[in-house]
Amino acid sequence: MARIPDAFIDDLLARTDIVEVVGTRVPLKRQGKEYAARCPFHDERSASFTVSPTKQFYHCFGCSAHGTAISFLMQYDRLEFLDAVDELAKRVGMEVPRDTVVRNQDSDSRELYLAVDAASKFFQQQLAGSGKARAYVAGRNIDTDIVERYSVGYAPDGYGALKDALGTDARRMGLLERAGLFSKNDKGHVYDKFRDRLMFPIHDRRGRVIAFGGRVLDPEDSPKYLNSPETALFHKGRELYGLWQAKQANPKLERLIVVEGYMDVVALAQYGVSQAVATLGTATTPDHAELLFRNAPDVFFCFDGDRAGRAAAWKALESVLPRMKDGRQAFFLFLPDGEDPDTIVRKEGADGFAQRLQQATPLSEFFYSELGKDVNLGNLDGKARLAERCKPMLAQIPDGAFGDLMRQRLTELTGVGARNSAPETHVPVQRAHGGQPIAKVAKQSLVRSAITALLQQPSVALALPIPLRFSSLALAGIDLLTEVVLLVHARPGITTGAILEHFEGRPEAAALAKLATAPAVDATVSTPLDSRVLDDADKRQQGFLDAISRLEMQALHQRREELQGRLGSLDEAEKQELRSLMQARFVGS
Ligand code: UTP
Ligand code: MN
Repeated sequence: MARIPDAFIDDLLARTDIVEVVGTRVPLKRQGKEYAARCPFHDERSASFTVSPTKQFYHCFGCSAHGTAISFLMQYDRLEFLDAVDELAKRVGMEVPRDTVVRNQDSDSRELYLAVDAASKFFQQQLAGSGKARAYVAGRNIDTDIVERYSVGYAPDGYGALKDALGTDARRMGLLERAGLFSKNDKGHVYDKFRDRLMFPIHDRRGRVIAFGGRVLDPEDSPKYLNSPETALFHKGRELYGLWQAKQANPKLERLIVVEGYMDVVALAQYGVSQAVATLGTATTPDHAELLFRNAPDVFFCFDGDRAGRAAAWKALESVLPRMKDGRQAFFLFLPDGEDPDTIVRKEGADGFAQRLQQATPLSEFFYSELGKDVNLGNLDGKARLAERCKPMLAQIPDGAFGDLMRQRLTELTGVGARNSAPETHVPVQRAHGGQPIAKVAKQSLVRSAITALLQQPSVALALPIPLRFSSLALAGIDLLTEVVLLVHARPGITTGAILEHFEGRPEAAALAKLATAPAVDATVSTPLDSRVLDDADKRQQGFLDAISRLEMQALHQRREELQGRLGSLDEAEKQELRSLMQARFVGS
């Protein structure tokens, strides 16, 4: 689907008056600051449907229909999202930008994919026709069906094989160049980048070829492996060689095995280990870690046993630690000196390799053995040092059983309880009175329940005016709360899923996902509303606004104390602010 930029939607909603949009379809009656009507979305006699011109938001207290002008048209006129946007854009004379930008981009990258695919087919043909290349493949004992499954090919020697075959006009030349298949000399002369190399095409998640890795045939040549450069289609930190084939071979991936080389992936596959993938001559990045765990619950990192191998394993550990949600496991497998998965599986077969996997080191063990390497746990200083080293890393683990066990292990090793980041225990929320300070724990619960309501029903945020007064509060979670509110404002109609998506990969992600599925909050509802006429959506909205207004009272209180603290040095604007803050006390009590 053509994607409309968020900024355009924001702008469109800012220029649209929801009262007009609704008013031409439903008879509205003014009621204080808002407009009311009998709800068009359910049968009722009273008027529980309200439209707020300040909030640019409608809401029915009866059936909890709610949203922006866009969602109103979608619901009332039964329009698709894009059509609702079109309709509103027409009213205010704006032009929807999707056609020009997005369509061009689409056809552009489609051509690029086609060019890379053509190159891949060309290399495959060349392998079939080259005695030298086939001899190399045979010499390394790579079976024909593996050559096919991985679309292995051969880039012929010479500077113009690919260029002459596929670069038949200027447009094609341009595409192949942008696909990273050419090099250029000082004089601007363009020639084939891959020459006399065995070619391993790299596939994306949808099975399209996006890049290549090429291995020299002649041991004198260097570098031994050459990868495509970063292109519009290929970002090496985000791709894994062999993932497409692993997914094809396994309807449900129980595990993924991360190895270092192309040859390792294909040799393992040939021996029946079809879940191996390789990073592309780089360390395991956080993007890789996320991609791995999205595809399989268990991930094995397989490295050389030497120092470089252990360093690479530690890098991988750093990337996976913040992603160790419950249900995910990581293991490390170190191979004997001079071996790699290619040689091991040829010697020991799939069974031998499986046995090694079974004896792989769990992340927890590797973690503590590396960090504890040069500390003496026999004395207090050593224990303290280990605890200090571990803390910042343990703090990155998402809430859950794994994190608990890791902290417990530290306690076993050192006697130090790393409880700082343990989950907050639930404390019933205290009722706030005016400017009276609330216990710190209760304030944190307010932040937490506000975030919970927000996640369960993002549109509650749309009722808040920007700027947010509570943002200035120095409380845990305030920045996160602010960010989510602003996100919902920037993208009204955003779903809970899309919010979680936005935070994916960040330390807050796990906690947010948990809150999104927590039981509905109503502990903070202070108004004695009749629960029979309130459904969950209303309770969430009430609970949210209630929590926010208490936080805002806190913010006002904090600001007032700050201003009163330096009464002598206030400028005119600040004095004015203080005067109105003094009045706010009575409003709030
Ligand atoms: P290795 O040197 O361990 O090669 O590089 P290998 O996988 O055992 O290959 P063979 O068995 O000699 O054919 C491991 C990986 O590191 C990257 C490649 O991704 C390679 O598969 N690499 C290595 C490069 O990117 N460039 C190089 O020059 C060497
Ligand atoms: Mn090798």
